[in-house]
Order: sequence, then structure tokens, then C-alpha cells
Amino acid sequence: MKIIMLGAPGAGKGTQAKRIAEKYDIPHISTGDIFRANIKNGTELGKKAKSYMDQGLLVPDELTCDLVVDRISQPDAVRGYVLDGFPRTIPQAEALTAALDQRGEKVDYAINVEVPDANIVNRMSGRRACLACGATYHVEYNPPKTEDNCDVCGGGLVLRDDDKPETVKKRLDVYHAQTQPLIDYYQAAGVLAEVDGTQDIDVVFQDIVKILGV
Ligand code: AP5
Ligand code: ZN
Repeated sequence: MKIIMLGAPGAGKGTQAKRIAEKYDIPHISTGDIFRANIKNGTELGKKAKSYMDQGLLVPDELTCDLVVDRISQPDAVRGYVLDGFPRTIPQAEALTAALDQRGEKVDYAINVEVPDANIVNRMSGRRACLACGATYHVEYNPPKTEDNCDVCGGGLVLRDDDKPETVKKRLDVYHAQTQPLIDYYQAAGVLAEVDGTQDIDVVFQDIVKILGV
């Protein structure tokens, strides 16, 4: 099963993608996590990506598309995957479609997690992320068991650099201009499904499972 998560920054794509990956036993591929791991490890890609991410801008398509096409060609992705944060522009979607076409494959579901902008800033300011394993928490809606450490790996939890309110506003602008058009793209492809992302995390997940089937 090949699944794409669509939605604004902070809509809950990562939270839901992690659960989908566990339930259906497929890899969770997050471009944001891949870039953050590269930043943490001081790679060339990480250095380039950081300058865009810190401003709330998208990393250029030429640094992003090949990386994802390579990742979905790995052996663990044969049974499918859940893509979180990719595609994010029409050229990225076209690159993905072209790569899948070559193998006679297609995306099965593009799940749009809908959350109005007004809810987003609160979600971001309360988010705490584990830089070691990528797990995310929310101080109010999804708190970790111990205040400052990750339940999964024990790593330290931080407020992401790009979760400051002024950067969040920029990310929302970029989302509306460059990523929202993908909703129409996947609607036209006949694979779009929408869920109300303002509900509790468990309820959103139940709605997604209804779409994907058990
Ligand atoms: P990325 O890491 O993909 O960030 P994003 O899309 O902005 O999404 P987020 O991770 O911020 O949010 P999310 O929707 O996953 O929400 P989450 O589940 O954490 O990208 C970061 C940057 O990398 C980009 O700005 C760009 O520069 C670059 N980049 C990445 N991919 C790229 C690409 N393809 N092309 C170019 N550049 C790229 O939830 C948010 C918070 O809310 C959490 O605290 C969570 O606990 C809480 N929460 C979740 N669901 C609920 C709920 N139902 N109710 C209450 N709280 C909830
Ligand atoms: Zn962790």
C-alpha cells in the first residue's frame, strides 16, 4: 500500500503516519526527518537544507526528489510505504508519478489531514520533538511520560528551530502557495481522501483506518 500524507505544517501528518506504518507494517518515510537527521550529522545535504528550513522555506526540488525516489526503491519499501512531507510541490508530485509509472505502480491513497490555520500555531508551540528518533509529542495533547525525554528512545526533547511563531507563519504561507495545489492533483488522480484533523489523535486515526481498510 502506497500512501501519501497531505496537510498543513502541524496538521498531524507525522503523528498519523507513524501509527499507519506500525499498523500496516510499512516504512514511514518523512523528508523532514531525513533532513533533520542530516543536519544533526553535519552532512553537506544537512547544511544546505538547514538554510531553507530555518527560514520556513522549502528545500529545492533538486535536493529532494532523487532522495525520495532512491528511498522508495529500497527493499523494505517493496510492500509499500507512507510518505510524510513529500510531495510538497507539483514538480515533486510529477517526479513521484513518473518514477512510479516506470515500474507500473501508482499511489493508492493521498490522505489530506485538514486543520484550519488558526489551530496550527498552538499545535506547533506545544510540540516537542525527539531529535534522536523523530518521535513527536505535545505538552498538552500528547505528553511524554517523563517531561523532557522521549518514551521511545529516552532522547532529549526540544522545540524545533522552525516551530517559532514567526517561522510557522511563513511555513503556512508556503504551504498555501506551493503544497495546497496537490489536493487538486490527487483529487484528479482519483486517490484523494480527506479526514478532519481537528479531532482527537485516536479519532483521526480511526477515520484513516476506515479509509485504508483493516
Ligand atoms: P516537516 O518536518 O515535513 O514539517 P511540516 O510539514 O511542516 O510538518 P510538521 O512535521 O511540522 O507537522 P505534522 O503535520 O507532521 O504534525 P505532527 O504530527 O508533528 O518539514 C520541515 C521542513 O523541512 C519544511 O519546512 C521544509 O523546509 C523541509 N522539507 C521537508 N520535506 C520537504 C519537501 N518534500 N520538499 C521541500 N522541503 C521539504 O503534529 C504537530 C503537533 O500537534 C505535535 O505536537 C502533535 O503531538 C500534535 N497533534 C497531532 N495531531 C493532533 C491532534 N489530532 N490533536 C491535537 N494535537 C495533535
Ligand atoms: Zn526518541
